[in-house]
Amino acid sequence: MDGRIGMTLTRHIYEGQLEHPEATGQLTGILNQVALAAKIVSREVNKAGLAELLGFTGDENVQGEEVRKLDQFAQDVFYAAFDHPGHFCIMVSEEEEAVIPIPDEFEKGPYAIAFDPLDGSSNIDANITVGTIFAIWRRVSEGKDGCEQDLMQPGRNLAAAGYVVYGTSTMLVMSTGHGVHGFTLDPSVGEFLESHHNIRIPERGKIYSVNEGNYPYWSKGVQGYVRWIKEPDESSDRPYSSRYVGSMVADIHRTLLYGGIFMYPADNKKGEMNTGKLRLLYECAPMGYLVEQAGGAATTGSSPVLDIVPQKLHQRSPFFAGSKTNVADLEHFVAEHDGTESPSRRAERAARTVAS
Ligand code: AHG
Ligand code: MN
Ligand code: MN
Repeated sequence: MDGRIGMTLTRHIYEGQLEHPEATGQLTGILNQVALAAKIVSREVNKAGLAELLGFTGDENVQGEEVRKLDQFAQDVFYAAFDHPGHFCIMVSEEEEAVIPIPDEFEKGPYAIAFDPLDGSSNIDANITVGTIFAIWRRVSEGKDGCEQDLMQPGRNLAAAGYVVYGTSTMLVMSTGHGVHGFTLDPSVGEFLESHHNIRIPERGKIYSVNEGNYPYWSKGVQGYVRWIKEPDESSDRPYSSRYVGSMVADIHRTLLYGGIFMYPADNKKGEMNTGKLRLLYECAPMGYLVEQAGGAATTGSSPVLDIVPQKLHQRSPFFAGSKTNVADLEHFVAEHDGTESPSRRAERAARTVAS
């Protein structure tokens, strides 16, 4: 997994491109822009307390959440990095209700991007890790400008996705469909250098990560799974350890490296069962893509997150992702108790019952 000396992010993308002569070089330019914006946000996050960037702006975003100064700062920086001639035809951000067009005067590019400029922002005032998430699809619409259709694509169609984690060091972790690679920002040279080549998530892990305060509001299947995780059993190394930062980027980053399962289930806190908290386009789809690219699995509880065809820009989805075996265990509980078994799993289970 270790990185290769001298392998900068730019060289990594360039060399990947040499293996794919059909590539146009657009993704190289885009990922360089991501890296530039990440360096600027990283610099500000690191001195947020000094630069009067803590606290709220006084506005609410599209999700009805209070906007923090750093949310707005990160939104502006990433927008400026993506608002370039020739890269994108359309964008969507967690911080804006409608799609964000590319200004008229610029030539439109062949990609569409969804991003969460600052993930985990409720943690920022306490100096806890936050991140940025991005998802890039190839344009599907025709005509001069891009449109919503270019973003309403399943995670399965992603051309690239990644996140930046502003932690004890700043890292950019990304995939263009050929494994997951991590680059650590070396502040002394101002470059992202490869530190994690081809990240593979362990087949099984013994860490579970969830906001357990929501336990009373989960489905029977999810409750049963979390109870099972905590039962002592030597043969399956239970109980697992609990870790929850509350910044998805940090929780997924740890899950990729150490294995285990990250969960944000649906809940019925407000009466009806909802569809969870995390947003499909710029949280679940890109993170699900990275976890699958690293050899893990990402599910809604009953089917792969990457298969969901989005219906709305800011749509939410239940999200469970991590080591393959852990995710399969969760799906088993959901199938057993919530009556949402997928046809393939039902057939698989029936076959097992017949065989035994
Ligand atoms: P954001 O800061 O972009 O709104 O995202 C916060 C998300 C995600 O990072 C995290 O996993 C989750 O909210 C935590 O939610 P709870 O506080 O409900 O656990
Ligand atoms: Mn987020
Ligand atoms: Mn956010």
